[in-house]
Amino acid sequence: MCGIIGYTGNRQARDVILAGLRRLEYRGYDSAGIAIGNGSLNVFKDKGDLDHLVKIIPEMRGKFGIGHTRWATHGKPMKNNSHPMVDCNGEIALVHNGIIENNVSLREELMKKGHVFRSETDTEVVVHLLEEYYDGDLEVAMRKTLARLQGSYAVAAMHQKENGKIVGARNISPLVVGLGKRENFLASDVPAILEYTDRMIYLLDGEIITLTKDTVRITDFKGKSIKRNWQKVEMTLEGAEKGGYEHFMLKEIFEQPNSIRDTILGSNLNAESGYSFDLKPDTVKIIACGTSYHAGYVGKYMMEELARTPTTVELASEYRFSSDTSQAPLIIGISQSGETTDTLSAIKTAKKRGFSTLGIVNIVGSTMTREADSVFYTRAGLEVGVAATKTYITQLIAMLSISIKMGVAKEHLGIDDARYLTQEMRKLPKHVRSVLDQSDAIFDLAQEISGARSMFFLGRNMNFPVALEGALKMKEISYIHAEGYPGGELKHGPLALVTEETPVIAIAVKDQTYEKMLGNIGEVSARGAMVIAIGTEGDRELEKYADHVIYIPEVPPLFTPILTSVVLQLLAYHTANILGCEIDKPRHLAKSVTVE
Ligand code: M6R
Repeated sequence: MCGIIGYTGNRQARDVILAGLRRLEYRGYDSAGIAIGNGSLNVFKDKGDLDHLVKIIPEMRGKFGIGHTRWATHGKPMKNNSHPMVDCNGEIALVHNGIIENNVSLREELMKKGHVFRSETDTEVVVHLLEEYYDGDLEVAMRKTLARLQGSYAVAAMHQKENGKIVGARNISPLVVGLGKRENFLASDVPAILEYTDRMIYLLDGEIITLTKDTVRITDFKGKSIKRNWQKVEMTLEGAEKGGYEHFMLKEIFEQPNSIRDTILGSNLNAESGYSFDLKPDTVKIIACGTSYHAGYVGKYMMEELARTPTTVELASEYRFSSDTSQAPLIIGISQSGETTDTLSAIKTAKKRGFSTLGIVNIVGSTMTREADSVFYTRAGLEVGVAATKTYITQLIAMLSISIKMGVAKEHLGIDDARYLTQEMRKLPKHVRSVLDQSDAIFDLAQEISGARSMFFLGRNMNFPVALEGALKMKEISYIHAEGYPGGELKHGPLALVTEETPVIAIAVKDQTYEKMLGNIGEVSARGAMVIAIGTEGDRELEKYADHVIYIPEVPPLFTPILTSVVLQLLAYHTANILGCEIDKPRHLAKSVTVE
């Protein structure tokens, strides 16, 4: 993880870098720091988030520099472990995103040569290698240094003697170059520099970039020049502002009707139009992490019901180590960022196994859009809150759209049925709005459960993964322990934990599992648990079983996860807010997980 940025031009680099780091903070916020060149090298860094750095940072004048916001991997969050790292003489500064796997042996070697290490990080070996190889040209030193590294990295470095020059490189971790007028930029992600330019070059693995304010030179690790064209980025910065909401997460929850509408519009849903991937695979395997995994899990039910295609879901971090024996599966990787290393590695593994791959991705130009054979873009817009909300909802829309298309292609779904489902999908923004209208009622329920130390989320069939997602949302932003379970599974063990102190959130919508869910609610009520149920509008029966009920509009059963998920997002949000948690930046987490 971590976010890096570099600038060279005519502006004060400190201002550009701090503004850019603000937009990269979603990648980590354990510490932050910047280095500015001005004949000499000035470095300022500290443990804590960017707000803290901004409060204490002195005036630093200079027109080129680099910055970093950290998600700790090697070494605790503390000042010495913050980036930029500097060499023994304080002449070279370096920022890094990724993990240097052979850092231990390199550190030993460099220490024997007399280099003095000041941090516990894997990164510090890189700056000492640059020092070791430096002979008046930072790009040459960078090339020699990279030849020694194993692992993943996006790096940016500067030398106080090379005025106005920034040298960067990429292997696995993302790095984008922004081209301005008499100024140039480097960053982990587009929004960090979008305020200044929309002309971008996405660096590829194995490329080195050397920037001055007037020149941009890309070479490979052997020194051969590479010609690359820039692309105009269509993204806007609107999503990077809170727009009057207390938190990005709340804003993003309320943006979901529009995100759904945009994703449906972009999904080519007309039954007659085609997609660029195989719509008749024998089997489907979905690989993803975290919330995207839960979206894939819901997608499994959609795929099996609408396209009658056997579908398995695997955590991307596990897929690589499995012996996949599937016959000709379509592999679907789901990732909002398109940069999650576990998911990218799984896609690469699948390709090596000879399988065709489809990426469901939110960020245009991200690595997964290049790695996968085909891409389906979700159109959620920029999501800043670390807790995924609108991107998850659009992943569900993507899975639904693809399942309908496959169903038609495989002739399991008639054109009329497909048209009916498509029409119903177009009503989803309105239905989501009616769930959002209940935000105050959900706040009241959040007050009831905010004192709990542990809670359960129950669901069955396609609402079982929604229970998993509800529990994940609750855990990650409110720090309350929560577990998602299939309603029928509780009695096989976890029921032992249910008492009057463990609230249970039960999804009991009108589908084929409804009666069974009523039974499961009865089981936990009998053990004293307070039950909040999510039911289908008009179902008064449910009120006899649960202590509280939140209703969603009646929709085809396969669509219910889209609405039940929104209830759970609001429940987690309000609970965390009542508890005063850092909702947009939960502890220990980062939005884009670029380590394995
Ligand atoms: O960018 P991705 O969708 O690949 O990210 C995967 C997970 O890291 C992500 O969904 C994570 O679980 C969420 N931040 C949770 O809200």
